Amino acid sequence: MKASKVTKVTTHVLQEMKLRKEKISMLTAYDYSMARIVDGAGIDVILVGDSAANVMAGYKTTLPITLDEMIYHAGSVMRAVKRALVVVDLPFGTYQGNSREALLSAIRIMKESNANAVKLEGGKEIIESVDRILSAGIPVMGHLGLTPQSINKFGTYVVRATHEEEASKLVEDAHLLAEAGCFALVLEKIPAVLAEKVTREISIPTIGIGAGSQVNGQVLVLHDMLGINQDFSPRFLRRYHNLYEEINNAVESYIKDVKNQRFPNEKEQY
Ligand code: KIV
Repeated sequence: MKASKVTKVTTHVLQEMKLRKEKISMLTAYDYSMARIVDGAGIDVILVGDSAANVMAGYKTTLPITLDEMIYHAGSVMRAVKRALVVVDLPFGTYQGNSREALLSAIRIMKESNANAVKLEGGKEIIESVDRILSAGIPVMGHLGLTPQSINKFGTYVVRATHEEEASKLVEDAHLLAEAGCFALVLEKIPAVLAEKVTREISIPTIGIGAGSQVNGQVLVLHDMLGINQDFSPRFLRRYHNLYEEINNAVESYIKDVKNQRFPNEKEQY
């Protein structure tokens, strides 16, 4: 069955989409109102990304957002969503280096927000955490390439895995995550040919962001693609709207109307 016909997208639906070469659409959302619009439009996957740290809270990196804050965003999204699969990022410091803590963090997200899956950044170094979360029956999405939670290690947001050593580690990690039982894999800001190779070699769907067209699906940050956030314009970003300007114009008109006593009019009062 075509994904557009399903009433609830599951991890199995995504797997079938890969098999029949139907592309997977994924966007972020962090609140009830936006999630309702995005889900209603028919998106396949909603990511409650830790990019909430940037676009919702104004932090420079994704590192400061807490597990409680992610659960708050995820719960708001879940109250709106009827059809999309909802995946929630485990925030920095809640899964690296301690698989028991990773499991407890994932369980809190699932129990307190009612989300469908979690996402973790990294490969071999976090595989114990991935295994333990999966063993509790919680679906896991992997994330390789540019992993923003490691920005202090990378030092920059430039394209990753352009050199042989990093590229082969990425391919190894992709196999490891797929074999462990992850249901999908995000590939961020890597060369298109490398993303294509990974997509061909592993059995689970790949979702790209700045990873070219030969992946199984695409993801963008909602505020970037709607043009709410004007400060961020990497090559891979396509802006579908200029909502910053639209909202700005609406607010300016409102201010003018209030100042000139054109709002409210007779019909807008009791
Ligand atoms: O947090 C996020 O929005 C993400 C996407 C960029 C994939 O991880």
